[in-house]
Amino acid sequence: MNYPLPYYFDDDARAIAITQPNLPAPWINYLSNGSLHAFVSHTGAGCLWWKSPINFRATRYRGWTSPVEGPGFTTYVRESDGSAWCPTFHPTRNALDHWEARHAPGRTTFIARRNDLTVELTLFIAPDTDTMVWDLALTNHRATARTVDLFGYVELGLLEWPHESQWGYYTRNMFHTWYEPAALAQLYLWHHQGHPRLHDIPLVYLASTEPPVTWSGDRQSFLGHNRGEDRPEALERNHCGNGSLWCGDPCAALQVQPTVAAGETRRIAFFLGCQPRAMGDFASAKAALPGALDALRQPGWVAAQRAKLNAWWAEHFAAADFRLPDPDLQRQISTWSPVNSVHAGRYSRSFSQFASGIRGFGFRDTAQDMLAQAARRPEWARAEFKRLLAHQFEDGHAVHTYFPEDKQAPWRTIHSDDHLWLPLLAYQIAAETGDRSLFSERIPFLADDGVSAGSDATVWEHLIAATDFTERNLGDHGIPLTLHSDWNDCIGRFARKGKGESVFAAQQYVYGLRQLIDLAAWLGDTTAAARLRLRLSKQETAVRSQCWDGEWWVRGFDDEGVAIGSVQRAHGQIWLNSQSWSVLSGVGTREQHVSAMDAVYRILNTERGIKKLHPSFPTYPDDMDAFVGYSLGCAENGAIFCHANTWAIIAEALLGRADRAWQYFRQLVPHLALQHAGLERYQGEPYAWASVITGPENPRFGWANVTHVTGTAAWMDLTATHYLLGVRPELDGLQIVPLLPNDWSGFTASRRFRGCHLAIDVRRTRPGETPGLSLEGKRLPAYVIPAHYLTGRTAACVQLLLPSET
Ligand code: GLC
Repeated sequence: MNYPLPYYFDDDARAIAITQPNLPAPWINYLSNGSLHAFVSHTGAGCLWWKSPINFRATRYRGWTSPVEGPGFTTYVRESDGSAWCPTFHPTRNALDHWEARHAPGRTTFIARRNDLTVELTLFIAPDTDTMVWDLALTNHRATARTVDLFGYVELGLLEWPHESQWGYYTRNMFHTWYEPAALAQLYLWHHQGHPRLHDIPLVYLASTEPPVTWSGDRQSFLGHNRGEDRPEALERNHCGNGSLWCGDPCAALQVQPTVAAGETRRIAFFLGCQPRAMGDFASAKAALPGALDALRQPGWVAAQRAKLNAWWAEHFAAADFRLPDPDLQRQISTWSPVNSVHAGRYSRSFSQFASGIRGFGFRDTAQDMLAQAARRPEWARAEFKRLLAHQFEDGHAVHTYFPEDKQAPWRTIHSDDHLWLPLLAYQIAAETGDRSLFSERIPFLADDGVSAGSDATVWEHLIAATDFTERNLGDHGIPLTLHSDWNDCIGRFARKGKGESVFAAQQYVYGLRQLIDLAAWLGDTTAAARLRLRLSKQETAVRSQCWDGEWWVRGFDDEGVAIGSVQRAHGQIWLNSQSWSVLSGVGTREQHVSAMDAVYRILNTERGIKKLHPSFPTYPDDMDAFVGYSLGCAENGAIFCHANTWAIIAEALLGRADRAWQYFRQLVPHLALQHAGLERYQGEPYAWASVITGPENPRFGWANVTHVTGTAAWMDLTATHYLLGVRPELDGLQIVPLLPNDWSGFTASRRFRGCHLAIDVRRTRPGETPGLSLEGKRLPAYVIPAHYLTGRTAACVQLLLPSET
């Protein structure tokens, strides 16, 4: 790039500093304590929701608008001449002497100076209380004390978001905003009687450490007529308006007037939060509020919560931390991928800056997201795994999307893949924890009504049921029927009559069967192992004998039994997933794997990532029965689908082709991809994985779309740590089989495994040394640390000497 980047990384602080507010897209961070959540952009716009973005969405956010997104979490500083500015730069957009936004794990900080005042504002969600803290440090550079007029402001929504979009013109008569002197807080109670969790509706508050001097719950009176957040009338009149509402347009605004001594830095805070169960027991919620808010105002509370938040993240990073010779790769692998996979895991495509928040959690999506958490937060992965099992029907298939926090029936289309992700997650959790007890826990299936609990079964029985379902739903070629779709949302286009079959689902099935066979042996279930082995061999034979196209694997068969992903077709001749998964599943010969992956390199790879298929399908109006509605090179139709790229990287790693595996990884690392394509073209955050990058058949080749909350996140985390760097848990130990790029001499890592902190040192052999793995100086027979060697140890040193040419 021939212009300076508008950001830099502060790697020691695991932060990115953004130095220019006018970027081509909002660059987002996610803040959460697992119960109260927000996303916030680099200019302070964003959205806050409690538990569910469907039913408890507290604030409004409009994306994709011109000239800028908004509204968000706004702090106005009023100057004595009536002008105002914001440490977030937006929405006032007044010139500042200095401005910087820093996204860090779980918190975002804005540092701004105008004239003789510096404001540092950090937004984060308190780990212990459902409140978003606006932690402000005001530094007065004057030689005299000054009083600063500060306003905190948010636009409130009507809580139940889909209801608001449909019925908001009625429900905007169903709330109350008021200032509560006993709590020194501006309050909001939304009370639509038809709310599915009526009793849980919280009291939303905006409070501060300083006593408010004016306040408002009335957006019109705060902003004035015909104005936006950029020029609120309240700032001009130096008074919020003290309005309360029983109908109309709610907001929460407070004005405070802290005095800051000459040269002093003074800390104050706003709190935007939820007092639970206000509709369940209003009197108690209201009575408890003053005390609850006073607790937040205690000196040291904000700092202690920040420290606790940082400790949570430190522990998260410590689970697997790699020190690599390449700073760009180290940063992505050791900091931003783990951050990203937490966000993706928390929201599972349901809500983000991109997703509207009404579709619920994807079953397959959570199952894959949790693969990454199994390594860093096994207890979280285990809980989500069990929740998934409770969304599996007795016949073995699963719901497609579900609503963990809403009383809403799941989406019940039947897909060939959803339930087949369960064995992968089960294996990953077992390998990480070594805990066999999980498999005998009892969890109910979902009853046929899709809502109530059905019959009870052990976790192991749930897993076997998943294979039973697939066995009962094989097509004419003996491979799984595609059903509504496989992993690819759109592939069902070829299976409308119910006869289409999926090679990817077959390969995924084989992969899952192998893992279940290992688990069966580990659990001592020889009967199941024998049955699963038969299924495996049948499936392998079906794929091997019927799905090879000459140079690569076909992608499936349509309803007429014609191959999809074959040179015989005009479009979609080669699809990425059936090539990469042939290697992952181990079906086929090495020659076939190499031939298929070489075809991927030749036909699908671009300098900006690997396309999902080629050539893309023509769409409307050229083809009125198109594969998908996506334009050429977009999303499912020939884009660089980053999630699917991760499997190609793993495939190359398993083939032992280090250079190609690392090349595929590097070309998607957001910071590098952004520089390669240029900021104006790439647009996405340089720290968050993208779901898709527009492909070369489209003029916007290189545009990164749908970042952060994407399946790419977890798989990239796994791809790098488990396959490229090769630190891979197995049922009986930790395998260490890294694949070094040619120019690396080694790396170090720390990895928590089965209660032991391993300090790992990897380097190439020097003359006279023999390759091998050692634990505490003792050579091991294979590249695996047996789990029982770690029993009773809390720390150990591991050294891996790799042959010098690998
Ligand atoms: C999207 C969907 C995911 C699906 C993928 C491929 O990312 O959220 O569920 O597997 O597209 O179609």
